[in-house]
Order: sequence, then structure tokens, then C-alpha cells
Amino acid sequence: MLVKNCKIIENGIEKKVDILIENEKITKIEADIDIKDKEIIDADGNLVLPGIVDLHTHMREPGLSHKEDFTTGSMACARGGVTTFIDMPNTVPAVTSEKLLDEKKELLKNKSYVDYGFNFGGSRNDNSDEIKKVVNKVAVTKIFLNVSTGDMLVTDDTIIENIFESSKKVAVHAEGDMVKKAIELCRKYNRSLYLCHLSTAKEVEYLREAKKEGLEVYGEVTPHHLFLNTDNVNASERNRMLLRTKPELKDKSDNDALWNALRDGIIDTVGTDHAPHLIEEKLRKLTFGMPSVENSLEIMLNGVKENKITLQRLIEVMCTNPAKIMGIKNKGKLEVGYDGDLVIVDLEDNSYIKEEKRITKANWTPYEDFKRGGKIITTILRGKKIYSNNKFYGIYGREISYE
Ligand code: DOR
Ligand code: ZN
Ligand code: ZN
Repeated sequence: MLVKNCKIIENGIEKKVDILIENEKITKIEADIDIKDKEIIDADGNLVLPGIVDLHTHMREPGLSHKEDFTTGSMACARGGVTTFIDMPNTVPAVTSEKLLDEKKELLKNKSYVDYGFNFGGSRNDNSDEIKKVVNKVAVTKIFLNVSTGDMLVTDDTIIENIFESSKKVAVHAEGDMVKKAIELCRKYNRSLYLCHLSTAKEVEYLREAKKEGLEVYGEVTPHHLFLNTDNVNASERNRMLLRTKPELKDKSDNDALWNALRDGIIDTVGTDHAPHLIEEKLRKLTFGMPSVENSLEIMLNGVKENKITLQRLIEVMCTNPAKIMGIKNKGKLEVGYDGDLVIVDLEDNSYIKEEKRITKANWTPYEDFKRGGKIITTILRGKKIYSNNKFYGIYGREISYE
């Protein structure tokens, strides 16, 4: 495939290039590549980014597929410019043994529009032996240190320590003081630690200190913790139910602290925490989580328009860093040798996110009536067009591999 007339960002500088993809990989990035017999896509001078790598999604299969399944969730990814996602283990059954992991992988083969990987779950029944068996088959062990959707909370200190010790890399759902505790365990067991969805100025300070000390700790922020706060939650009865998530949305001042940390390199990644629940479920009883993957890039581009981060930084936190932190092979960069995963974005399209056909089974968005910072025109996975102008093509997704 030859993608003509791309505007790319290289070391912070805009460049006009053509991108050649052969046998799934980028083989040439140059001005005016002229080759016959290739499928040609004209980017028409629009912005072309590496496919987004989203380290934090809940695709709900198996067990909860009335909320989302691997196919609908991955279609939402294609629509949102996400070409790689990592699925969390709080499906039903939860992924806490090698056997359950293998079964989940088998079940989800040939169902995804984009490439994917899995996280393993730390269990309160101490599954350290299982963790050791799967360290090379998953991105990280995920531990829930605070209450959240699903039944995966681990509170016993000895078990938490065993899980850290058995893992190669750990990701935590930790809030407030639990962030501090996770950092202490990272220090004690010398394990790479990924702090999911930081939501307060205080948590950012814990991360800043840990980095200063030289620990291998990374921080993630979600688009909703950047763009939404308690004012949005309190704006209506409906929002008081819909905009509930763990961690809960915080204050405007926390939004600002998170943006600053994202800009300054303290926070390393944006992950969506795509956590689909049906609107009926959300309105009937308090249910935590919101869908996100379909609009995350379009919303994050508002942060660029508002000068909160640069386009270069957006690419780092949504593409390059996530791939690098998890050691995902060949993802996250527009460079020769990398997978031909591309998103073409029309930055001039700042239309409102209105009642439009949604891809996620959850069928709603927390960003209703928000302006988009740009609109995704086309998504390409390893040299194949998988989404363009509201049409989807082919289920080409497969499991990623790790370094
Ligand atoms: O709000 C949340 N929902 N937070 C989580 O950590 C899990 C998620 C879910 O799976 O619904
Ligand atoms: Zn979480
Ligand atoms: Zn989550």
C-alpha cells in the first residue's frame, strides 16, 4: 500500500511525505514515492499519525458480552484510530490462571478488527504460580488495590507482595494512598510499575517523587480525567449516574495538574479505560465505568488545539510510550521497519459529537455535544484499510508480541 500526501510530525516538525507499506511493514517514508501496482490511498495533505496504542480497555468478552464483545470493541477502536489495545482481566471468568488465559485467547481469535494483547489478573487467592507461568504471554499482571467493577480486589499484604514478586511487570488500579503503597512495592521488589488512571494532583506528586528517585514507575491518565470533573457530574441527574467511574472524576484543579504532568513528562501515557456499560444499567443503579475508545483521539486533539500539549507530545503519550513501556514489538512509530499502522485525521473537522451511530454496544458517550479536535477519516492496520468514512473492512487483528 502507498499512502500519498501525508502530513507527519517528525521531531516536532511538520513534513510532507508518502508512506510505503510492504508485507505489513513500513518500508519507505519519503517525498514523492512513485511506485506502480500498489493500492494507493490519498491522505490529501491531512495529518497522519501512528496507530494509537491503548493499554487500558475492558472488552467484556467472555461473560459480559451484552455490554461489549471483542468484535464491537475492536470496531470502536478502528473508528477511534486505535490499532492496538490491551484487554483487562476482569472478564467473567476473571483471567487468573494460565488455563483461563489460553481459553480466552482461543475464544477471541479472529474476532478483532485491530491488534490486541492481554493483561493477567492478580488474585486474592494468591495465584503467584500461575503468574510465573504466563509472564511472557501477557503485557503485565494487573492488581486491583481499590474497589472497582468486578470482583478482583486484593487486600491481603502478603498476597499483594507475592504477586509483585512473581510478576515481571505490574499494573495497578490504585487510588490515593494505594498509589504510594504500590510505589513502595515497586522499590522493594524492583519491578516495573504502571499506575493506571491517575486522577489527582496528589497522585501525580507521588509519581514525580518516584521518578526522581529513579524507580521504574510509569503513569497513565484517561481522557475523562483530563476533560471532565465534578462540575460535569453534578450538571444533571442523568450525569450523576452516567459520569461515574473508578477513580471518580475529580476537581477542575486536578484536571489542570494532570494536563501539566502529561505535558512535562511526569505522566507517560493516555489510556482510555474503555469500560462499556449499557445506558440502562448505568441509569438503574450506580455502575462504574464509561465507554471511550471511539472518541479518545478526537477528544485529545482538543488538548492540542487548546495548547495544553503539542502534537509531538500527543504522539508520544498515545502511541510511542505505550508500545515502549509494554515492550510491544513494531508498534507506536512511523518509522521504517515498524508495522504499517496509520490514522488519517482531518484537523479541520471540528464537528460536534452528537447523536450519531455509535459502534460500542454501550451505545453512549461521555462526550456528547463536545467538539472534536479533528475527525478520523481512515485507519490502516499493517497496510490494510480497516476503517474509512464510516465503513469497516475485514477482521485482520491478531495478538501482538512482546520484546
Ligand atoms: O470505573 C471503572 N470501571 N473502573 C475500573 O477500574 C473498572 C471498570 C470496569 O471494568 O467497568
Ligand atoms: Zn481501574
Ligand atoms: Zn480499567
